[in-house]
Amino acid sequence: MLGRNVMAQPSHSNNKPARRAFLVLLPIGVLGGACGNVIAAALRFLRPEHSTASEKWLEVAPLSELKGDKPISRKVVAEQTQGWARVVAEQHVYVLPAKNNQVLSAVCPHEGCEVAWTPDTGVFACPCHDSSFAADGSQINGPARRGLDPLPSRVENGMLQVQYHFFVNNTEERIRRG
Ligand code: FES
Repeated sequence: MLGRNVMAQPSHSNNKPARRAFLVLLPIGVLGGACGNVIAAALRFLRPEHSTASEKWLEVAPLSELKGDKPISRKVVAEQTQGWARVVAEQHVYVLPAKNNQVLSAVCPHEGCEVAWTPDTGVFACPCHDSSFAADGSQINGPARRGLDPLPSRVENGMLQVQYHFFVNNTEERIRRG
């Protein structure tokens, strides 16, 4: 009997390190799996598929400042909800006094760069892929598939106001995405 016990001992003691390693790795594996799920959920929120813009009316300029026949550059501070995050950022718009103070987004509808009014040539030019747009926002040439996007506007107590929206890039149809 004693001989059998002595013979069995070495193999029992060889299993100890493996069992100890298993007991150490088990909680690490469980913790890692749980953290992975939390990180994946966080990333889904950080890269939301849907965003919404605030429907707030934002002040652009007093009507008394909107004169002439050239587009006038203005900035508004717009709020956007992306998943759980609220993003507040300055956005560039152009007012067209020659078109009853219509307000255009300065975001190029091709891939979202910012267009600039160039008084020398009388067009809105996009620096990214050379799309250009007429003074009324209609498309002249370049890869953009539609004109500049008009924004809802109104006048309240002599102040031009706008609702800032975002649109899907690179489509002929104008589709709001926030
Ligand atoms: S982003 Fe304006 S032309 Fe491409």
